Amino acid sequence: MDTAMLIMELEKRLPRKRFEHVVRVTETAKELGVRFGVPAEKAEQAALFHDIAKFMEPSDMRRMIEENGEDSKLLSFHHELWHAAAGRIIAEQEFGVKDTDILNAIRYHTTGRAGMSVLEKVVYIADLIEPGRSFPGIEELRESAQLQIDGAMKACIAHSVLYLVERRVAVFPDSIECYNEHVQRD
Ligand SMILES: [Fe+2]
Ligand SMILES: [Fe+2]
Repeated sequence: MDTAMLIMELEKRLPRKRFEHVVRVTETAKELGVRFGVPAEKAEQAALFHDIAKFMEPSDMRRMIEENGEDSKLLSFHHELWHAAAGRIIAEQEFGVKDTDILNAIRYHTTGRAGMSVLEKVVYIADLIEPGRSFPGIEELRESAQLQIDGAMKACIAHSVLYLVERRVAVFPDSIECYNEHVQRD
């Protein structure tokens, strides 16, 4: 995959603000990758792709999910969750990405899941703590990401689940499983 070509594609498919978010997530993911032992090219590629489907029409994402054997449970949750599954399909089918770890990092960047790889965690965490984000508690999340990947993932998934619970929004089962795995570990 030619990075320059992918960046041009992203500029076409995403509004400026979202494109800039993707660039910041990519830089953050590369830094986390160095810290936690993920090759920079893998972190870069997964992070560049992660929001590629963010501005697709929900009806198109629905069709992609239905036609590609994706988890149909997604369709009974908010369409905000669909772009991760659609992004994985686009990376694989349009751009020929074959690396399963990269595809999974795209696929699970919104929900997390139990049994995430280090790369999956790196992209999940980078998406939440990139320098453009600002919300109460973010400094603690950034500090945790300086130390240890599982501690950071635990803090990030707990933050995300709590955010949804406080707003009385349904939590996708993969996120609950991810949360349970991290709090039951120690
Ligand atoms: Fe996303
Ligand atoms: Fe994102």
